[in-house]
Amino acid sequence: MEKFVIHGPKPLYGDVYISGSKNAAVAIIPAAILIDGSCVIENIPNIGDVKNLTDTLAKLGAEVEYLDQNTIRIDSENINSYVATYDMVKNLRASYYLLGSLLGRFKRAKVPFPGGCDFGYRPIDQHIKGFEALGARIKIEHGIITAEADKLVGTSIYLDVVSVGATINLMLAAVLAEGTTVIENAAKEPHVVDVANFLNAMGANIRGAGTDVIRIKGVERLQGGVAHSIIPDQIEAGTFMIAAAAAGGCVTVRNVIPKHMESLTAKLIEMGIGVEEIDDSIRVTSDGKVLKVNIKTLPYPGFPTDLHPQMASLLCLADGTSTITEGIWEGRFKYVDELKRMGAKIKVEGRIAIIEGGHPLTGAPTRATDLRAGVALVIAGLIAKGKTEVHNICYIDRGYENFEAKLKALGADIERCVCK
Ligand code: EPU
Repeated sequence: MEKFVIHGPKPLYGDVYISGSKNAAVAIIPAAILIDGSCVIENIPNIGDVKNLTDTLAKLGAEVEYLDQNTIRIDSENINSYVATYDMVKNLRASYYLLGSLLGRFKRAKVPFPGGCDFGYRPIDQHIKGFEALGARIKIEHGIITAEADKLVGTSIYLDVVSVGATINLMLAAVLAEGTTVIENAAKEPHVVDVANFLNAMGANIRGAGTDVIRIKGVERLQGGVAHSIIPDQIEAGTFMIAAAAAGGCVTVRNVIPKHMESLTAKLIEMGIGVEEIDDSIRVTSDGKVLKVNIKTLPYPGFPTDLHPQMASLLCLADGTSTITEGIWEGRFKYVDELKRMGAKIKVEGRIAIIEGGHPLTGAPTRATDLRAGVALVIAGLIAKGKTEVHNICYIDRGYENFEAKLKALGADIERCVCK
């Protein structure tokens, strides 16, 4: 077991390069199952979730070769199993994408319920509803989902909630189906578009990704031989922007798509932070003074839920009381008790965190309760006076490439240590 030890406060200065998007990568790797042949995926983040998925594909019979740390070649021709085991999926939310891609390729899939970060009830009823509409018979027994179809036939599917996972999973199942599938009330996140671009490059016919109506005309096969470069990680970029705003200093966040960052950029400007877009970079300048704001997390292009805990750390510095209303995950408040150990004044009422700014944070031992909670505690450690420990950093390693090395290069005093 490892932990981060941070000594603060210290401002951040310099440039940080953002890795490929975790949530695009964890969908694109299973999507490679649909290809007759091989593909090269570039700008793959070197993180635990990716390693977990590439190991899973290899166990199913794919050939997976790392051409370098951030480039993989996947050859799916010899995949010979449509069954994922509990051990393959227990730590991974995105394992549900194996359902869509195995069902799409073999017309059958057997995958245990997904694992991953725990922030309350995480249903997948919209995925199941969509698979059934395409003609699959679904059975759920002993924690295992079995999907079977004689054939998949395109149809119109209206999602009752805007779901990133269901939107992508239904695209995966529909690309090789007969006829046209229309997904209405689809998620518009940047990684939905990236997955569609990947599949289209392999010969799929998907139109409308990035809007709330996606049309997928089934094709007979997807051929490989194509390289695809994953988009920059919107949430990693946001995490560094918030860290710079909190710690103070001047940080240029490089290799980003500024359009993907608009909801955060607007909020930071409202908080009095300097934010300047320069081509594919964003420069954040801060003297550590923060104006109070209210935030509501929403599906894209709204403010991302995956930046909620990080913003809560930043708002501890504000000049008054701010609120964050969580619009996606009702259980995303486990970070609050950990921040309170550091002197934060936060109250949770239903889905709203009420954050009283202006109470200085002091270093304390803390524990990451999930991926984004973990990085929020690191940000708090950058602001707090004295020594902060963040335990359970396996969560952070699952989703952030070289997190502490990137922070150290900006001047943070952070070390990875083995817990005794
Ligand atoms: N929902 C349903 N039924 C479903 C699916 C979702 O009711 O069948 C509800 C959920 O309970 C939630 C909302 O719809 O309230 C949105 O869930 P969504 O399906 O969009 O979430 P997800 O696909 O499970 C992905 C990301 C999460 C991110 C959410 C929202 C991956 C692997 N995970 O989860 O990322 O919070 O979208 O943007 O892409 C993270 O990276 O830290 C993370 C948790």
